Amino acid sequence: MNTIEVYESGPLKGEVFVQGSKNAALPVMTAAILIPGVTVLHNIPLITDILYMITILRSVGCVVERNGYSLYIDACHVNTSQIPENAAGKMRSSIIFLGAMLARMHRAGIPYPGGCVIGKRPFDFHVDAMERMGAVVAAKEKMLTANVRNLHGADITLRFPSVGATESIILAAVLADGRTRIFNAAREPEIQELCGFLNAAGAKISGAGGSELLIDGVSSLKPVEYRIRPDRIVAGTYAIAIAATRGNAHILNTPKEEMGALTDVLCKMGCEIKEEGRGIFVDGRNASAPCGYVRTGVYPEFPTDLQSPLLTMLCVQEGNSIIEETVFEGRFRTAFELEKLGADICVKDRRAYITGGCRLHGAEVCAPEL
Ligand code: UD1
Repeated sequence: MNTIEVYESGPLKGEVFVQGSKNAALPVMTAAILIPGVTVLHNIPLITDILYMITILRSVGCVVERNGYSLYIDACHVNTSQIPENAAGKMRSSIIFLGAMLARMHRAGIPYPGGCVIGKRPFDFHVDAMERMGAVVAAKEKMLTANVRNLHGADITLRFPSVGATESIILAAVLADGRTRIFNAAREPEIQELCGFLNAAGAKISGAGGSELLIDGVSSLKPVEYRIRPDRIVAGTYAIAIAATRGNAHILNTPKEEMGALTDVLCKMGCEIKEEGRGIFVDGRNASAPCGYVRTGVYPEFPTDLQSPLLTMLCVQEGNSIIEETVFEGRFRTAFELEKLGADICVKDRRAYITGGCRLHGAEVCAPEL
């Protein structure tokens, strides 16, 4: 589906169920290539990035079966270290195959990753870390190639707590000789998910959720069955949509403990949010206060992936607000599309200044990113 037509709906009501987390599922699916057996994953969302990932896994020799929201990945016969360009070029997370392929095949061929157009998105942290673990990495004609006799543990300090680089290093380190320590590691729930999955498979990782990770390499991993957590970004997008339309609705299967930064902002604007069973009830009927200033940051700060839905809400909310983007340098492209709908936003460097209270109207727009 390339085109979506949206009609004015009024306040949103009812209930909605949150699917499994994309950003947790992708690295766990990548990790399956480290396990010579059948990995079973449940609660996998049915979205295109997952289909690209299945294409990659099949192209390197895995047998992948899908049954509804469950995946069966047989990685007994991984037979190439070369990731195909057609799928990798569409998805940023293909870069984490660098660590996984070096661990499984002792070499890797990774086309430059694609994905959402949100800033430069370099991969120098991934390359530096693999080199510290003993790999020789070369970049030529939009392709990264790497090889290593045996990966060894290392002390690695990340300049920024990159989610992808932390995942790449974990994937390389679980089967490496000796101990790896990652300093200034990403603390996102998706890192905890990857570590939880790998530990269930026999890895020795401690510190997940903190900024220092300790990984003792093991000789092999065993197959496991694992359920992926619900998607905090999807849940957050629903919550913002309910609040922005001054609706009231249930969001079922919500990872509420991972959503504190968002619920704080929504409550400040007058939204009421109640925990109900495994979900939340969002009442946005009195969400009329301006939010002032919001800054995105690494977990547990306000997630950059919820910046554009919040930006949209602030355009219609009374009062002026500022959003500062600290994670990606080029992530206000949504602002230029919202202007076509009548929004009043001024972007300067990493800040968007929003004049609220706009009555938006229909127009043809493009969705350059999440
Ligand atoms: C992941 C998420 C994405 C989310 C982002 C930040 C997935 C599939 N995607 O993306 O939805 O928006 O985390 O929470 O999980 N950087 C470098 N060098 C590197 C790697 C990163 O300079 O080698 C910089 C990036 O340019 C960016 C910052 O680090 O400014 C954070 O990027 P990173 O955490 O790596 O994002 P992704 O893993 O790509």
